[in-house]
Amino acid sequence: MKIDRQLIDQLTLTEKAALVSGKNSWYTAAIDRLGLAAMMVADGPSGLRKQLGSPDQTSINDSVEAVCFPASALTACSFDRELLNQLGQHLGDAARAEKLGIVLGPGVNLKRSPLAGRNFEYFSEDPYLVGELASAYVQGVQSKGVGVSVKHFAANNRENRRFTSSSNMDERTLRELYLTAFEKIVKQAHPATLMCSYNAINGTLNSQNHRLLTDILRDEWDYQGLVMSDWGAVADHPAAIKAGLDLEMPGKGAASVAEVVAAVKQHELSENDLDKAVGRVLKMLANWAPDPTSPSISYDMDEQHEFARKLAAASFVLLKNDNDGLPINDGDKLAVIGELAEHPRYQGSGSSHVNAHRLVTPLEAIQKAKPDATFATGYKLADDQVDATAISAAVTAARAADKVVIFAGYPEQVESEGFDKTSIDLPANQVQLIHAVSQVNAHVIVVLQNGSAVRLPWISQVAGVLETYLAGEAVGEATWDVLSGKVNPAGKLAETFPLRLEDTPSYLTFNANLDDENYREGLFMGYRYYDKKKQAVQFPFGFGLSYTTFEYHDLQLKVVGDRVIGSVQVKNSGSRTGAEVVQIYVGNRTSQIEKPEKALANFVKVTLRPQEARTVNFELNQRAFSWYNPKTPGWQVDNGQYDVLVGSSSADIRLSGTVELDWQPAKRLPVDQRTYIGDLLKRPEFLAAVKQAGLAPIFDKISIDKTDPTAKMFQNMPLRAAITMGVPPAKIEQLIKVMNQAL
Ligand code: BGC
Repeated sequence: MKIDRQLIDQLTLTEKAALVSGKNSWYTAAIDRLGLAAMMVADGPSGLRKQLGSPDQTSINDSVEAVCFPASALTACSFDRELLNQLGQHLGDAARAEKLGIVLGPGVNLKRSPLAGRNFEYFSEDPYLVGELASAYVQGVQSKGVGVSVKHFAANNRENRRFTSSSNMDERTLRELYLTAFEKIVKQAHPATLMCSYNAINGTLNSQNHRLLTDILRDEWDYQGLVMSDWGAVADHPAAIKAGLDLEMPGKGAASVAEVVAAVKQHELSENDLDKAVGRVLKMLANWAPDPTSPSISYDMDEQHEFARKLAAASFVLLKNDNDGLPINDGDKLAVIGELAEHPRYQGSGSSHVNAHRLVTPLEAIQKAKPDATFATGYKLADDQVDATAISAAVTAARAADKVVIFAGYPEQVESEGFDKTSIDLPANQVQLIHAVSQVNAHVIVVLQNGSAVRLPWISQVAGVLETYLAGEAVGEATWDVLSGKVNPAGKLAETFPLRLEDTPSYLTFNANLDDENYREGLFMGYRYYDKKKQAVQFPFGFGLSYTTFEYHDLQLKVVGDRVIGSVQVKNSGSRTGAEVVQIYVGNRTSQIEKPEKALANFVKVTLRPQEARTVNFELNQRAFSWYNPKTPGWQVDNGQYDVLVGSSSADIRLSGTVELDWQPAKRLPVDQRTYIGDLLKRPEFLAAVKQAGLAPIFDKISIDKTDPTAKMFQNMPLRAAITMGVPPAKIEQLIKVMNQAL
């Protein structure tokens, strides 16, 4: 189909109005007269949720069979662009076989609070990591001829009252944190569509936010794709079209058409604005709608299941492993405890729920490998009532075993899209079980299944903890792969695990206010906050153990043109093959602004055989050293010194170096009445001007070499206040003039 002005001109106003609203929940409108077929879209980020039948007749869980991959909360811990790209390709294959045009994912919002209900569906608290991994995912899906919808644009960081709440924040916080991943994905991966979120930003609903959807997204970032609404996010359709929204989902049927037609007729909406949205809908159909005449294709779900297993195992994070309790040896007599071993939480609820192809539970996988492993339920998932009988049976099983694996986590009812959590504690019955079992066995390993960070006050009582998040349908096999040592864990936390909810940066404000979510912590979110405050955490961002160990040597840094090129040697100093995620952070020592201690600027994953050493190369671009200056407005990089920190986690920096950047043309700031005397005293030409004006005796007394309180007080005054030192106003003007002549 050729999308041009002529095609748009052939459409009647009613047809145009129909095209900018979905036909129903899952299809775009068809224009039979012009041979324009309806195109289907479907969730979701971790496996297809192609709903069967119409939404009013079926539950959201009635969808076609598909492979359930690990949730993004887990895949992020892989820090592996290649694996995310392959995940995207698998989703693309499945979507093509199901004749879908667009897959509704990935979800790329930041994890601002561990209470946010949708954290399981999002990647990380760090925008660089999200942008890199999601770009790889998007490229993977789209390489198969299927488009994506990157969601939820933007600042969608809480679920309570998500349709109306306003995410209120300053411009730097918006740009440097909450928009960064979207910007990277748009520029790097060219997603077919973006899904605008329910919430508002600073009081304007995102679905009708011209600044967000047009000024920033299209004019600044040059986005060429389509913006659709989240389901039910449109409050005023004509206003949304004017702001830059192209497709309302789902459509409201005849009512949608009528309101758009009426708005054009009453000159509330220009036909030109409507045509822009229509043009983008047509372009999306031309680029991504499957060819209805193409033969049906199939894909191999069992192969995808194996990939789900590999991806999960490569992402699990080993949080604790005392006395090499893991891996479990062949001869170890094992007790498996916890209902989650039998009924695992392996996926999130809501729109990303998949009708899984073949679930393999941890209990099945373990008992297949170790038929003599015993099992006790220990607790019920349905409530948090402590069950003394179940605990006593678990204790008996634990006493008779060499090692115990307890499966613990958040039950489904506490964590979902659509509402936020109120606690980060495990249910009381699970905590009680861990206490009781760890008293009778010194080799207790807790395997966690949860969508977001959890508090672990009992951690000192157990020998090991493996974080498996929501691992997808191959949860059982993947978990056993790591517990048994078949796979050496290499995942790193993509979010900080705090010691207490009260320590988290948004604790004072999150969900405090019904409709205004005030981001008062600003830029200091996630590890940026804990770092700066030197606030102890349970596990830092980027943390994860391995069954082997790694050494870092010989950091080299060089400024080449507009980039910094670096290398570091990493050595596997243990006796097992393993992978290490080399994390590169930048600390800005130069700009005189509020700033975090450091921010992730790159990462490289490297697999090494025992005793193998390899040189890992990396690059840092200008953005890694930049901050967003709302006054100019724009991204700014200042000349001066920056730290480059290389390590195994955000809190385990092994090597660091400094680079001196000189990327900006030297620029002297003009001097005026507000220029500080202390700053001027550092400039030789000022000292010369002072001498020439006969003011040397006055300024000598406060020269910057002097550290007495009076000198320091005057250094900390603007030039206009020099009158308090006895400098006449005319002399001040003379100094300003002389200084500015040199500019
Ligand atoms: C969710 C989206 C999802 C859509 C369609 C909405 O409630 O927020 O993420 O894609 O439903 O299921």
